[in-house]
Amino acid sequence: MRRFFIAGNWKMNKTGAEAVELAKALKDKVDGIDKVDIAICPPFTALVSTSEIIKNSNVQLGAQNVYWEDQGAFTGEISVPMLINAGCQYVIIGHSERRQFFGETNQTVGKKLQKVLDSTLNPIFCVGETLNERQSGITEKIVQQQITEALNGIPKENVSRITIAYEPVWAIGTGVTATPEQAQDVHAFIRNLLTDLYDSKAASEIRIQYGGSMNAANAEELLKKPDIDGGLIGGAALKADSFAEIIKTANSL
Ligand code: 13P
Repeated sequence: MRRFFIAGNWKMNKTGAEAVELAKALKDKVDGIDKVDIAICPPFTALVSTSEIIKNSNVQLGAQNVYWEDQGAFTGEISVPMLINAGCQYVIIGHSERRQFFGETNQTVGKKLQKVLDSTLNPIFCVGETLNERQSGITEKIVQQQITEALNGIPKENVSRITIAYEPVWAIGTGVTATPEQAQDVHAFIRNLLTDLYDSKAASEIRIQYGGSMNAANAEELLKKPDIDGGLIGGAALKADSFAEIIKTANSL
């Protein structure tokens, strides 16, 4: 049985003090919840301070990006050892905003995945089609390409440590959520693809989160679908109340 995994991607929001306040409020609201894995992914500048707040709680820490070298002349980048040292257990890789605005490709995403899987960090690997791609009927082709190219060379022993986040680009930050059926269809497609690339055991262990305008009102119908194992939440994770509601919904299913 896969445990639900609800993660909050704070994106480029919250100063240090604001991040500490949100982490504190969330920690109190989800205290005692034990059937759901919970993570917050604040900006780099708030990792250390929030890690102090959630230490010894059921809330874990993730970063939003990482580079594949350990150290050196890579101005502006952050490495895997730095994230581990800051208290992270997870890192988001290949978010559509990084692909769209910062030139990430399936190849760079693959290099980051390899690097992270060689460490104790666990990746949240994002895939998803644009509106134009969905309307052209090539959603599955795009998602298949994103997954096969990025997982190229990643061995079976490591693959179940990956969480895949299916985030249709047209649903991110738009208030337009994929219907539970649309999401389930792509999640099932991804799981079948993982069976082909690895085997049914690995495919059944990998968690696949949905992301894209998920909120307290629509979480239940999405999370009830058999291949939806959690959520990667943007806007609704910026308020302790709405994020805790989603976590409680998952805990009740
Ligand atoms: P929203 O929940 O704001 O649509 O963002 C989703 C997302 O991109 C999470 O990574």
